[in-house]
Amino acid sequence: MDLGIKEKRALVLGASRGLGKAIAQALAAEGAVVFAAARSVDKISSYADAADTLHAVELDLGQIDQVDRVVDGLIKDGGVDIIVNNGGGPPPGAAQTAERAAWLQHFEAMAANLFHLNARLLPMMKERGWGRIISITSSGVEQPIPNLALSNGIRSAVVGWSKTLANEVAGDGITVNVVMPGRIHTQRVDELDAAAAKRTGADVAEVAAKSRRTIPAGRYGKPEEFADVVTFLASARAGYVTGSKIRIDGGSIKSI
Ligand SMILES: NC(=O)c1ccc[n+]([C@@H]2O[C@H](COP(=O)([O-])OP(=O)(O)OC[C@H]3O[C@@H](n4cnc5c(N)ncnc54)[C@H](OP(=O)(O)O)[C@@H]3O)[C@@H](O)[C@H]2O)c1
Repeated sequence: MDLGIKEKRALVLGASRGLGKAIAQALAAEGAVVFAAARSVDKISSYADAADTLHAVELDLGQIDQVDRVVDGLIKDGGVDIIVNNGGGPPPGAAQTAERAAWLQHFEAMAANLFHLNARLLPMMKERGWGRIISITSSGVEQPIPNLALSNGIRSAVVGWSKTLANEVAGDGITVNVVMPGRIHTQRVDELDAAAAKRTGADVAEVAAKSRRTIPAGRYGKPEEFADVVTFLASARAGYVTGSKIRIDGGSIKSI
């Protein structure tokens, strides 16, 4: 199936590892010109150098001056057709003890600065009458994950923004969707399993096995499986899918 995105220009955020990296590589494999951004630009360069359609961009989403500088460069260069909103997860913690300063700090990096970046890149998509905006959130926006108050709360704001924007720009040929990873096997998931093992004194393999047993599919997802769904949503073929939340979780969320 030709996905119709050859030479489309894609900005993938949080692309130095994990889900963002897999998405950047999948889009590049479909012939898109990909700008892969994160703070560790060296890590991006280490895989981007292999493909001449992949470009490494240094960006800390917590720094609005850096966001504006990157956007200025992209606009000067012709804008982008596809944006994948992604970045780091906030620290764990309960809702009743989360501090105001933490809410503000993480809201800025995970929501406000992303909204600003998208708003600045949208006019060129509208001019071309074509665009794809996909935001990576978490299954926690449908089924809040205990002790992840910042993540559950801030990512829900991304969902609200995404649906509002989807309605505003559907007539301009721009789709706006949210994807919700359950447990996809990235380095971050290994780090979380290792932290849980340390906290409980259990063996890390047993922690991971227990976690897998909670997933109907009986396994963690592969980053490539996640990236394939995002790549389809970014494609010309998915032009009538907008304002949606898509689960990529092996059946983890218990409701339909
Ligand atoms: N994997 C899962 O199963 C799962 C499940 C639910 C939700 N999620 C969420 O989905 C997102 C991606 O997951 P992942 O497993 O790929 O996470 P990851 O391995 O931790 O990757 C996060 C990416 O975001 C970048 N990043 C972090 N802080 C940033 C900042 N301030 N500015 C710019 N880039 C930043 C990181 O690169 P630098 O450090 O180089 O900047 C990295 O490339 C995360 O938010 C995660 O919490 C993942």
